[in-house]
Amino acid sequence: MSTTTKDGYRRTETGYLEPTQDLIRKNRQKPSKEDYFFRNISGENEKSIAEYCLKDGKALLMKGPPGCGKTAFAMWFAKEKGLGFYRVPCNEDTTTRDFFGSLAPDSTGEFIVSPGPVLKGIMDGQAVILIDDFNLADKNIVAALHPVLDSRQFTNPLTFENYDLSPSVIIMFAMNPGGMYALESSPALKRRPLAIRFDYLPKETAIEMALSKLESAYAKDSTVRRVADGIWDGVYDLRKVHANNNMTPDGTGAIPMVEKPGDGTIIDALKMWCSGFSIEVAAKVAIAERIISDTATDAEQRIMAIVDIVKSRVPNQLQKKSP
Ligand SMILES: Nc1ncnc2c1ncn2[C@@H]1O[C@H](COP(=O)(O)OP(=O)(O)OP(=O)(O)O)[C@@H](O)[C@H]1O
Ligand SMILES: [Mg+2]
Repeated sequence: MSTTTKDGYRRTETGYLEPTQDLIRKNRQKPSKEDYFFRNISGENEKSIAEYCLKDGKALLMKGPPGCGKTAFAMWFAKEKGLGFYRVPCNEDTTTRDFFGSLAPDSTGEFIVSPGPVLKGIMDGQAVILIDDFNLADKNIVAALHPVLDSRQFTNPLTFENYDLSPSVIIMFAMNPGGMYALESSPALKRRPLAIRFDYLPKETAIEMALSKLESAYAKDSTVRRVADGIWDGVYDLRKVHANNNMTPDGTGAIPMVEKPGDGTIIDALKMWCSGFSIEVAAKVAIAERIISDTATDAEQRIMAIVDIVKSRVPNQLQKKSP
């Protein structure tokens, strides 16, 4: 029989000490206060599809370019449903430890389970578990989740205990297909979750979203809205340049962008303008420097080309600092 020890640990049937559900829940990440803006998926949206997945015990795969809100959605969905949020950010060095955690002896020689995000989410029992940029991690590591996805049964690799996954746990995967570092995800993983494609928000929604991140006095100001409109247009032009093999609209040269500017760049550029920076500085710092290739030899010149594209979309009299 498992027993609860005083300090929030319990002994597993296999003889290890692991944190109790109460302790895991007590240490949940604080939910973000930010609003979330939906996209239209043939008349449905990501919320209704994620709700379906949660109810049906399916995982959800989110595909979409950087900064289109995949992580923001997973966090928001957890808050909306009163679930804990647990995330594994993957890269090529990710190991099973980063998913499940580790087991180590304490000073008395007891083996203590120190759970990783996936294990914490499973132990919490009411959770969104996000495997972020999962396609960057070794396919064999992600494959450790296949049995959970198939039967919602789980053998804890640290304690060897078997559990049924709680019906209030949803596993989400996120990836950026077609990006500079994109790898093809394994067909075995791909066919398990249901999959939705995120794209950048349409103009009106993106502007509302950016305005929602400002202090309310700014968010209601029509001048700020005009600047947001201009920044969005400039960012949209840059996305077209990227889609056109980075060739500038006048065909005079290429801007070596490593990725399209995301909706997050619009938020940050607008916030900087509201704080008193010119559009030139905001476009440099919040947009250009974040998308330009680090290996570009003519980066400085190309950054100016990016700045010019954004600047040209903002009315002249508003390009200087905000009043
Ligand atoms: N639909 C949205 N609603 C609210 N905020 C959003 C939305 N889309 C993007 N954002 C905001 O834009 C920024 C970038 O979003 P986020 O980090 O979630 O993107 P991502 O798709 O996870 O990107 P990456 O592939 O780089 O991880 C965040 O500040 C986020 O709050
Ligand atoms: Mg993300």
